[in-house]
Parts: sequence; C-alpha cells; structure tokens
Amino acid sequence: MQYRQLGKNGPEVSIIGFGAWPIGGGMGAVEQERAERSVRVALDEGITLIDTAQAYRDSERFLGAALEGVRRDSYVLATKASFDFSPAGIREAIETSLRELRTDYIDVYQLHAYRDPVEPSIETLVRLREEGKTRYIGVSNYTFEQLERTGIPDGLVSNQVEYNLFARAIEDDLIPREAQAGVSIMAHSPLDKGTLTGKYDESTVFPDDDERRNMPRFQGDEFRRRIAVARRLQAIAGELGMSLVQLAVAWTLRYPDVATTLVGAKSPEQVREHAGVDPDILGADVLERVEAAPAG
Ligand SMILES: NC(=O)c1ccc[n+]([C@@H]2O[C@H](COP(=O)([O-])OP(=O)(O)OC[C@H]3O[C@@H](n4cnc5c(N)ncnc54)[C@H](OP(=O)(O)O)[C@@H]3O)[C@@H](O)[C@H]2O)c1
Repeated sequence: MQYRQLGKNGPEVSIIGFGAWPIGGGMGAVEQERAERSVRVALDEGITLIDTAQAYRDSERFLGAALEGVRRDSYVLATKASFDFSPAGIREAIETSLRELRTDYIDVYQLHAYRDPVEPSIETLVRLREEGKTRYIGVSNYTFEQLERTGIPDGLVSNQVEYNLFARAIEDDLIPREAQAGVSIMAHSPLDKGTLTGKYDESTVFPDDDERRNMPRFQGDEFRRRIAVARRLQAIAGELGMSLVQLAVAWTLRYPDVATTLVGAKSPEQVREHAGVDPDILGADVLERVEAAPAG
C-alpha cells in the first residue's frame, strides 16, 4: 500500500480509502457482520482512511462497532455533515457522528456539499478544530471557485469530489489548481458506482433499497452505453492481467494531487481487490487506450 499526505500538513493516508456508503445500506442492504469484517480486512490490508457521512444510513454505527478496540491513531476517520450546514446543524451532526463512531474526535470533518452562505459553516468547522473535535477539516463536491470562497483556512486539507472514467470534470478545474492552494483531492466513486466493475449487463435490475434503482445513469440508453464502455475496458484490463476494478481505480490515482481514492466496498473480497491496486502500472500507451474507450 502506498500513502500520500492530505493537504500541506495533513495526515498521511493510504491511496485507497475505504468508502463506507455501501456498508451503510445505500446500495442495497449489507449485514452488519459482513460490514464489520470488511472494515477490519481493510485495516489489515494497510488501508488507513475510512470515509463515511451523516447521510450514510447505518454506516457510522457499523463503523463504530467494527473499530471498537482498534488503536485510534492507526486509522484516519473522515465523516461529513450532510444536511444542515448552519452552525447549530453542524454541531448537532458532529455530536451524533462522535457517538455513533464511538470516538472523541474525527480526523477530517467535512461539509458534504457547497451551500451559501459558506462563511458561517466554515467558521464552525474552524471552531470545532480549535475545540479538538476534529483534527482537520474538509469539503466535498466544491468547484475551485467555491473552495476559494472558504478563504482556505489553516487545517482545510481536502476536497472530496467525483472522479472516474465517466466523470473527468475536475481535470479542467481542480486538478491544475488545488495543489497550489494546499488542498488535496479525495476522489469518490472511482467505479462509477459499479459500472466500472464490468459485472452488470443489460438485464441488471437494482433492488428497491439501492440508490441506483432511480439514478438516471443506471437507466436506458445511458446505462447501456456505460456497460458497453466497461466491456471495452475489461478487454484492456484482461490483456494487462488485472481486473477492470483494479484498472479503473489505478486510473484515478495517476495524478499525485489526488491523494486518495475512496472505493466503496461491501465484502472482504472486494476490499482485498482494492488493496491490490498498483497505481504505477498504467504506462502512457495504456492510458491512451483506456481514455479512448468511453468515446467508442
Ligand atoms: N462526497 C460525496 O458526495 C460522495 C458521493 C459518492 C460517494 N462518496 C464516497 O466515495 C465512496 C465510493 O463511492 P461509491 O461507494 O458510491 O461507489 P464506487 O466506489 O464507485 O462503487 C461501489 C460499488 O462498486 C461495486 N464494487 C466495488 N468493489 C467491487 C469489487 N471489487 N468487485 C465487484 N464489485 C465491486 C459494488 O457494487 P454492488 O453494490 O453492485 O456490489 C459497490 O457498491 C463512497 O463509499 C463514499 O465514501 C462520496
């Protein structure tokens, strides 16, 4: 496992982060016992960053149970205020997170999305840091302009944004500019929520309790297009002797400013596959073929 630093003076984190939305049940129910085993295997595999949120249903509660008894400084816990970004709303959210996660501090406390007025929200995060409730602060789904509006206070180490072979907007905006501002990118949804595993086909139907059931990109022509791209990419991965999951995740790590990529996992087997990703495996010739695949 490789490790990179978050921000100018933030913590070192594994380049593969444990994305804890799926264990919370947002992409179909996951049994608590399996969720806890997945988290413990992640730690055994050298994954030190765990990302969750107020909005992730059972996720914080399952994590709290899984991490009971694990040395607190052996992992970096990132969670988010998801709903109410007023000072009172953020304070209520962090208290619930601390209780569910069974800890007395968060490592990176984030705002889940941008909302005006941003100043009082950021001010609250700064105060929570001074009070020792969080060691660092972060934001999520911010453009560079929105990041600048925060004034980038001391201790703001990361911006968590979507990044995968279907979602490359950050290459024009954040990747060239964030590093200079001392803020790292935490990539999320590196598998496009599953299409970049190659395991779905035209007949796939997601269960009622799975967010993908109603997401536009998992419906009709757009879903069929993504499945076709995944098949082309799977052929390239096969030639390289790796899985499409590993190819897609490695691809998100090719810029050093992407400090870590958060991969959603539902089982120990999935976690082991993520931990085996080699970020240095994609040479220029392969990258060219990989990046041409979405266009057909
Ligand atoms: N800040 C934000 O707004 C935001 C938004 C989204 C995500 N995130 C963060 O980023 C993390 C990752 O995103 P995500 O979980 O939404 O999507 P993702 O990582 O792109 O995809 C996760 C899904 O891919 C499939 N999968 C993962 N590993 C696999 C493997 N080894 N073999 C086969 N299938 C595999 C599973 O699908 P099946 O369920 O079909 O098995 C899993 O539910 C989240 O958990 C969360 O921490 C943040």
